[in-house]
Amino acid sequence: GASVPHGSQPRHFLKDSDISTAEQAEILALAAQMKAHRHEFQTLKDKSVALVFAKASTRTRVSFQVGVTELGGNPLVIDTANTHHVRGETLADTGAVLSRYVDAIVLRTGADSDIEELASVSSAPVINALTDNWHPCQLLADLQTMIENGHNPAQSSIAFLGDTSHNMGRSYVAIAAMTGCELRLASPKAYQPDANLISSARAAGAKILLTEDPVEAVTGADVVTTDTWTSMTQSDGSQRRADLGRYQLNTELLHNADNEAIVLHCLPAHRGEEITSAVLDGPASRVLDQAENRLHAQKALLTWLIGDRP
Ligand code: CP
Ligand code: NVA
Repeated sequence: GASVPHGSQPRHFLKDSDISTAEQAEILALAAQMKAHRHEFQTLKDKSVALVFAKASTRTRVSFQVGVTELGGNPLVIDTANTHHVRGETLADTGAVLSRYVDAIVLRTGADSDIEELASVSSAPVINALTDNWHPCQLLADLQTMIENGHNPAQSSIAFLGDTSHNMGRSYVAIAAMTGCELRLASPKAYQPDANLISSARAAGAKILLTEDPVEAVTGADVVTTDTWTSMTQSDGSQRRADLGRYQLNTELLHNADNEAIVLHCLPAHRGEEITSAVLDGPASRVLDQAENRLHAQKALLTWLIGDRP
């Protein structure tokens, strides 16, 4: 687009694979430093970051707002319902203008084409805070949580149950190609990720098992995770509950995992649907550490993209 001066295309983070495996490792190492020395970094001094939300959020919005503030920067939380987007100004047109004011744009929206268009006209880096296809900031926190618990992703087997076709499932597929983990996806066929995504991940070396049997996926796994059966903007909840009922992450199913296995969930959880309270609140659960790690991982990501790297 005409809005970005030639030769100054910024680096964006629209999907997991927009960074290399080595860059991901750098960001995760920085995230661990951010966590160990929470209030010691001022890497975003005098930087403004627009946090633009076209969908609901609890964790992502608050962790970015707190994170930018802790780093000495200025977070601007923008709900698109209160912008001219509701009167027809496109996200791309909005983003092109915002990028003249701020140092980075964090965006949560639906269609990936919207964030891609916005990125193409933004003079500032754009970060995906969840779209239909990807949730790459969440995956940084998930990887940080695995590493903290002694599960180096490259040597781990990860079971993902339920609806593996949407943002979380797809980001796990991308991560399988990047880290070399063994990913087992347990879903009915209609809820598996797009076949092209699986074949390109496999071509890139990903080890992925697709199964309709949740026990097969969980047996011996080091990490067991799931996501809501009905994502934001999906409306067929009762059909989904009927289709996905036997993929519930409950105590009986978790017994098949490795003794040291941890349970992750990006949250929000729907207790009694995709996961039971006994598992979510149980000894294997690391979901609150995982949610906390959003803060540290995103502070590291922003520092890496636009800040003064320590
Ligand atoms: N996990 C996650 O992205 O949570 P929010 O929707 O609350 O931001
Ligand atoms: N798959 C869920 C993730 C929420 C963080 C959704 O898109 O609603």
